[in-house]
Amino acid sequence: MDVVILAAGQGKRMRSVLPKVLQPLAGRPLLAHVLASARALGARRICVVYGHGGETVRAQLDAPDLVWAEQTPQLGTGHAVQQALPHLGDDEQALVLYGDVPLIGTATLARLIAAAGGDKLALLTVELDDPYGYGRILRDAGRVVRIVEEKDITEDAERRVREVNTGILAAPAARLRAWLTRVGNDNTQGEYYLTDIIGLAVADGVEVVTVAPDSINETLGVNSKAQLAALERAYQAATATRLLDAGVTLIDPARLDVRGELACGRDVEIDVNCLFEGRVELGDGVRVGANCVLRAVTVGAGTKIAPFSHLDGTTMGEDCAIGPFARTRPGTTLADGVHVGNFVEIKNSKIAAQSKANHLAYVGDTDVGSRVNIGAGTITCNYDGANKFRTIIEDDVFIGSDTQLVAPVKVGRGATLGAGTTLTHDAPPDQLTVSRARQRSIPGWERPAKKKS
Ligand code: UD1
Ligand code: CA
Repeated sequence: MDVVILAAGQGKRMRSVLPKVLQPLAGRPLLAHVLASARALGARRICVVYGHGGETVRAQLDAPDLVWAEQTPQLGTGHAVQQALPHLGDDEQALVLYGDVPLIGTATLARLIAAAGGDKLALLTVELDDPYGYGRILRDAGRVVRIVEEKDITEDAERRVREVNTGILAAPAARLRAWLTRVGNDNTQGEYYLTDIIGLAVADGVEVVTVAPDSINETLGVNSKAQLAALERAYQAATATRLLDAGVTLIDPARLDVRGELACGRDVEIDVNCLFEGRVELGDGVRVGANCVLRAVTVGAGTKIAPFSHLDGTTMGEDCAIGPFARTRPGTTLADGVHVGNFVEIKNSKIAAQSKANHLAYVGDTDVGSRVNIGAGTITCNYDGANKFRTIIEDDVFIGSDTQLVAPVKVGRGATLGAGTTLTHDAPPDQLTVSRARQRSIPGWERPAKKKS
């Protein structure tokens, strides 16, 4: 099977410099959703018809399995498919998709292709309460005979037809090629209509069949930001339903956003307003508190993430306690039982089992051993303005509050650093290392007072 994706339309109503098919839905360009469906069907070849300004589309989404056909000027959907014809195999079935209809699903398309069966023309159609603007499916004694575009309707009976063309269709490529050479542009819009092939198929004695989508959302197009927002909600609602069906507890399914892939174990609970990006894996019994952002994160079983945590590019072990207000950045690995508390930032660091940084700390480019306690206000000074250096903190170290570790530096196993230490040389194991002025009190000292005038 060969797929043609029509994506040459300009999308003026988006009022954006970004081409319409690059506008994001669930964090991915509209066209990327359509490409994913085409790929899931095992298409032999995918041809994207792009138009004016489409170079950015091509630059952003090009892949080895895609061919690109430019359509300039844009003379209609039939003319658009014509541009793809050189890339279609004569013995293949052709499937036509729209780049701005992002939620089209593989199950629906598989049924459409099966209905076309290699020798028929299959149309994806829906019944709408308000069919205004769409091409109407005209039938005679139940059989499809023609499609009439809204602007070409001449009779009220046609206007009242509620079955409409979604634009998505499947047909033998060789037939499509023959029909398209016969399509003219003698209509109100002066365009070459793809929909004119239906009448030609009927004239050739080729059976025209129709298939309905699993969900109407699959056929909705995006022409405006309002429609984009509506489809975003439809997508998120479907994602939430899938998660609920899989046994995930969502405190409010309407307040969840998944912009990537979210894989959950058993008894996962997600509180309100959480955002998941990239691939996120939550192990059994994981709880994610309200207002968290997780991007490209793996979370081990039993770990609890308290509200307002921002976790990125991080692997977490089991039974960790994260947040509230924790921030982890890419390259971070936390082993089992690690605690990362409020206002703690961890970047590109490995923290071994049972270690804790419970309040107000920056740990960057650091290897932390097991059972280490990092006191409040501790900072690894990993950057000298030009270079970054690593800090090594071995097992069972205790770091007092308000300590600066000026990297590169190493704290030996079992060492204790006194509060307020600025560590510029390695600290030996098992000893107390402290760097601060000795405390003294000055007897008889008087606080300066303002002169009385
Ligand atoms: C088309 C159908 C109509 C159907 C409707 C569903 C035709 C003649 N009409 O109408 O029956 O009900 O879609 O939404 O096919 N495109 C190009 N090049 C062009 C013109 C369009 O690539 O020259 C692409 C657009 O980017 C878009 C798709 O084709 O993705 C549909 O184009 P659009 O102008 O929205 O078609 P409609 O007139 O709405
Ligand atoms: Ca349209």
